[in-house]
Amino acid sequence: MEPNAHKHPPVFLLLLLFLSPIVFCQLDYKFYQYTCPNLLNIVRQGVQSAIANDTRIAASLLRLHFHDCFVNGCDGSLLLDDTDTFKGEKNASPNRNSVRGYEVIDTIKSALEKACPSTVSCTDIVTLAAREGVYLSGGQFWPVALGRRDGTTANETAANELPSPFESLDNIIKKFTFNKLDIKDVVVLSGAHTFGFAQCFLFKPRLFNFNGTGTSDPSLDASVLENLLRVCPNQDDSNTNLAPLDHVTTNKFDNFYYRNLVNNSGLLQTDQDLAGDSRTASLVIYYSKCPFTFLKDFGTSMVKMGNIGVLTGQNGEIRKNCRMVN
Ligand code: HEM
Ligand SMILES: *[C@@H]1O[C@H](CO)[C@@H](O)[C@H](O)[C@H]1NC(C)=O
Ligand SMILES: *[C@@H]1O[C@H](CO)[C@@H](O)[C@H](O)[C@H]1NC(C)=O
Ligand SMILES: *[C@@H]1O[C@H](CO)[C@@H](O)[C@H](O)[C@H]1NC(C)=O
Ligand SMILES: *[C@@H]1O[C@H](CO)[C@@H](O)[C@H](O)[C@H]1NC(C)=O
Repeated sequence: MEPNAHKHPPVFLLLLLFLSPIVFCQLDYKFYQYTCPNLLNIVRQGVQSAIANDTRIAASLLRLHFHDCFVNGCDGSLLLDDTDTFKGEKNASPNRNSVRGYEVIDTIKSALEKACPSTVSCTDIVTLAAREGVYLSGGQFWPVALGRRDGTTANETAANELPSPFESLDNIIKKFTFNKLDIKDVVVLSGAHTFGFAQCFLFKPRLFNFNGTGTSDPSLDASVLENLLRVCPNQDDSNTNLAPLDHVTTNKFDNFYYRNLVNNSGLLQTDQDLAGDSRTASLVIYYSKCPFTFLKDFGTSMVKMGNIGVLTGQNGEIRKNCRMVN
């Protein structure tokens, strides 16, 4: 130990006390306040006109954010295109012919590059677009802290491990826990399935070969089953037909996801499982009765999801084009 060292700690401590709010504040609500003051208007405008053209796009943008954040954290990795030397995540099986909304992000990004070049990260755009999509579909607004930076890598293997509708709730909980999300977050964020659509092949076993029985899921509501059999007849050419995740209020962000679950009208097996598991069933019933609590809790869990593994400070970069690293 240096002879004088014991005299210095108070100074260091003071400095640390001063700096810690800056050092530890990774994201900030007013991050772009001076560098891109019109950011929120530009994103809202972009999402609004995308919805005017295609109502479903609000749901697609929310899912895009989820699939970005669950792989390498929220770093825009999902937006990167494949090249001869670079393998992205777009062609991983949970994403290929399934994730939508890339063009909307491109359009918003080009508007932002005009207004404030090389300033706003692609992953912050996705985070805001998801929030706007929910808000404009009838959900509740939640404040989003900004300053995420874009990654320079992608991981197709990890993208192939995104939650699947054919896995157990145990597995899904593990994948959420890996991202520091708990069982409540699983139930709350699954409420995203209150809007948007799913392709028939992602729930067909429930219609034709439930649990290997060769018949339909006996617990599925009879009139819902009848409708699904019309949309998804038992032949391969119906595999990519679409059914609404919420058959009652299809395009509205509300608590009908949970109301459907308690009525045995969930679409995906993993959705309906939430109503039948002792760890999650009571929360499903609760949200089916308390729409405003759900909308509020959804914002809270979205903030947690939007903070997964973010790059800040000098890490990562601000991409100029969301489809490729600079
Ligand atoms: C809990 C595990 C989850 C599983 C197993 C799952 C699975 C799926 C599947 C299979 C689809 C249909 C995809 C297709 O038809 O190609 C889908 C759609 C969707 N998912 Fe999830 N999901 C999960 C969690 C989430 C979360 C956490 C969010 C967002 C917070 C989310 C948002 C959505 C939305 C909005 C759609 C509709 C997208 C559209 O219409 O374009 N999902 N999900
Ligand atoms: C409108 O929506 C359709 C269907 O999603 C899409 O193919 C098309 O590119 C969109 N057009 C514009 C101008 O955004
Ligand atoms: C990609 O993801 C896989 C599976 O999650 C992981 O084992 C691997 O280490 C990751 N690769 C890189 C380069 O991060
Ligand atoms: C599925 O089938 C297995 C045995 O084939 C059985 O043990 C299990 O209880 C069944 N699950 C349901 C939900 O019916
Ligand atoms: C369940 O469905 C019935 C009609 O089949 C409806 O009257 C009831 O309100 C639904 N329950 C919930 C919680 O939405």
